[in-house]
Amino acid sequence: MDEVAYKDLFNLSGKTAIVTGGAGILGRHFCAGLAESGANVAVVDVQESAAVSLATELGERYGSRTIGIRCDVSCPESVEEMVARVISECGEVNILHNNAAGKSDDLDAFFAPFESYSLDQWRKIMAVNLDGMFLVAQAVGKKMLVQRKGGSIIQTSSIYGMMGPDHRIYEGSFYLGRKISSPAVYTASKAAVIGLTKYLATYWAGKGIRVNTLTPGGTESGQNDEFNRRYSARIPMNRMAKAHEMVGALLYLASDASSYVTGQNIIVDGGLNAW
Ligand SMILES: NC(=O)c1ccc[n+]([C@@H]2O[C@H](COP(=O)([O-])OP(=O)(O)OC[C@H]3O[C@@H](n4cnc5c(N)ncnc54)[C@H](O)[C@@H]3O)[C@@H](O)[C@H]2O)c1
Repeated sequence: MDEVAYKDLFNLSGKTAIVTGGAGILGRHFCAGLAESGANVAVVDVQESAAVSLATELGERYGSRTIGIRCDVSCPESVEEMVARVISECGEVNILHNNAAGKSDDLDAFFAPFESYSLDQWRKIMAVNLDGMFLVAQAVGKKMLVQRKGGSIIQTSSIYGMMGPDHRIYEGSFYLGRKISSPAVYTASKAAVIGLTKYLATYWAGKGIRVNTLTPGGTESGQNDEFNRRYSARIPMNRMAKAHEMVGALLYLASDASSYVTGQNIIVDGGLNAW
């Protein structure tokens, strides 16, 4: 029998991870999980002060090297600068969590009905949710190839990248005075993430770079009670997820625990996709 220290499979000591959208609701937990597992963590977000303060907090709490970096993932120059900074401060990059997704400053445009959805708004969301994943995977993948040590790339999709929303659950749900929904561009962008993952998984498999998707279901983040009730009623486990419940799947995919897993999609949705 091969000598394998099973309890060390999730140990990320000596690895450097980049988490885009690292200052967000889920991103904060992803960064904390990676830091607690021993990785150096670059908290990357368009919100600079949130990224920097989270990095400082995690560094103090877990003793790992953490840096907060402002980066707009939809901007090629910003992405190249971010990756160069991680390499210069940490030496290399071994794990990429491609996790950023855009909402919109213009909520009326973001939540507009499909029939009147503007191409401009569609492109703004695609620029972050899909172009951003492409740009960051390309910039980091190039470095991983040069390092010749393989790597793990995890890309966040959504349950709504796998199925259309049940629009009935939004009835009676409002945010800042307007009716909310989940727009088509979100489903289209998140479905594309799963395709990008599969392509990169087979493309880089021979180079030891694994690429997988993590698909969260709806997660509690202050939604109104009516929405929570209607969403939960659709879920076999009868509740929304808690943000920390996404972290186990990330640590599995980021670490040697999943050393023979690539091109897969781990769905953390309380069973929604199983009905
Ligand atoms: N929260 C959920 O219920 C849920 C469910 C399914 C999937 N997801 C997915 O999980 C991921 C994280 O979602 P979240 O709930 O933490 O969302 P969030 O909005 O809290 O976090 C997203 C983060 O991305 C950052 N960001 C936005 N545009 C950016 C850009 N151009 N460049 C860099 N950073 C940018 C934001 O500043 C924010 O910190 C997203 O990909 C989202 O689609 C979330």
